[in-house]
Amino acid sequence: MRLAVNIDHVATLREARGGIEPDPVHAAVLAELAGASGIVCHLREDRRHVNDRDVRVLRDVVTTKLDLEMAATPEIIGIALDIVPDLVTLVPERREELTTEGGLAVIGNEDYLSDVVKAFHDKGILVSLFIEPDAQHIDAVVACGADIIELHTGTYANARNAAALTIQFERISAAAQYAESAGLIVTAGHGLDLRNIGPITTISQIEEVSIGHALVRHALFVGFEQAVREYVAAVS
Ligand code: PXP
Repeated sequence: MRLAVNIDHVATLREARGGIEPDPVHAAVLAELAGASGIVCHLREDRRHVNDRDVRVLRDVVTTKLDLEMAATPEIIGIALDIVPDLVTLVPERREELTTEGGLAVIGNEDYLSDVVKAFHDKGILVSLFIEPDAQHIDAVVACGADIIELHTGTYANARNAAALTIQFERISAAAQYAESAGLIVTAGHGLDLRNIGPITTISQIEEVSIGHALVRHALFVGFEQAVREYVAAVS
């Protein structure tokens, strides 16, 4: 299993003072040197952390894989088609939310999303859809022609007792098997940390996890490269 590092919260710290540091681009370089398989950033409509300049510079600097997380809105689609990341991950977005709250509503939006997927494919950009780990969502992702599904692990990460954790783990595991058999590349993310990642690493179909907040907060105490190394070791 590989580790993609989400650097949004390095930019969150920068935005707390409105200056130019810490620079998420520096974090991306360190993450790659420490073994990350990719860099993820979410360009939000409200630019609350990562901004347009970051995405442009990251496109030039990232040598592993740049995954632009984004809502499928005309403005951000235009920016993504211009910048040409290696991969886009389509997520739902609400201005009031603190973080992405759940999977994308793919069911019922297949026609729109198929057109979006095609526009990215025409530019050679892979498309991942971030979804709840359930078979009906996976069927809808296949119908849209996407390449990858990122299974939302937030409910698993928030489980507060062993029984709930087991139910959510089984749900993710079954979804990963179903998605792989449907021909999709399977990844996962949201809320993962050094305490809860262990069981997820046993799901062989999940090729990569995307981790941000927990890694950045760990980095405050151990340093960024060290934090990435610990997470790379934990997932592999
Ligand atoms: N994957 C997706 C689609 C996300 O929206 C996020 C949060 O930006 C993550 C992964 C990473 O989540 P966390 O910051 O909780 O590790």
